[in-house]
Amino acid sequence: MLKNITLYVVEDYNALSQKAALLFAQTVKTNPTGVYGLATGSTPEGMYDRLVKMSQTNEIDMTKIVAFNLDEYVSIGPDHTQSYAYYMATKLFNATGVPIQNRNIPRGDAPDPHNECAEYEKKIVNAGGIHLQVLGIGTNGHIGFNEPADTFAGQTSYAALAEETIQANSRFFDSIDDVPKFAISMGIQTIMMAETILLLASGESKAKILGEALQGPITPQVPASALQLHRNVIVIADKAAAKFL
Ligand code: GLP
Repeated sequence: MLKNITLYVVEDYNALSQKAALLFAQTVKTNPTGVYGLATGSTPEGMYDRLVKMSQTNEIDMTKIVAFNLDEYVSIGPDHTQSYAYYMATKLFNATGVPIQNRNIPRGDAPDPHNECAEYEKKIVNAGGIHLQVLGIGTNGHIGFNEPADTFAGQTSYAALAEETIQANSRFFDSIDDVPKFAISMGIQTIMMAETILLLASGESKAKILGEALQGPITPQVPASALQLHRNVIVIADKAAAKFL
């Protein structure tokens, strides 16, 4: 493993969620007004659950953090139950008291998505950049919605979802036809600007791609492999996901 990557292998998903929540909470304690990059998907849910509990018992105060989400589906608005805005509100923000004005998520229903991308990128810069960026990983190596491609995506952009991602995410929708085909996503460059990256991976379905991402060639065909070039990456993986590391 590269020395810029700190790897924690834990027993199972519960242990992963616990470790990630403690690490996140520690960072918030040190930097309560910091800028935090957040991810959606199933993987961080356990961490968010714990952060909610910690905030209800006053172990942490998340009311001053500034949050920037990685991505959002295009064509659905923030009230749609499968939008990432809805996910964040219901799984983390409302219960931890993150103020509305500090919740930044690209607008999936923006009239001009390309302009929304440029504005989102500007907002991150104006906020002083991201201190800690939480990431999951897709089974095809995507981070955010940066899908395998011929070049690494730069800044926040309008992105087409890969077929594999549409398949994977169809579990959240009534039918596969309901899964949006496009998203707005922070680019690889945007993600790489974060001071620290916290990558979470759980389960056997992530084992092969996690091995490729962290130990294989750095290639835009495995977008997460760019993380090998970042100066400070923390990976928390459960045993199943860490099988090939
Ligand atoms: C989604 C999201 C990613 C997420 C990934 C893995 O499509 N855009 O940000 O990390 O896929 O999701 P999960 O954690 O559910 O496996």
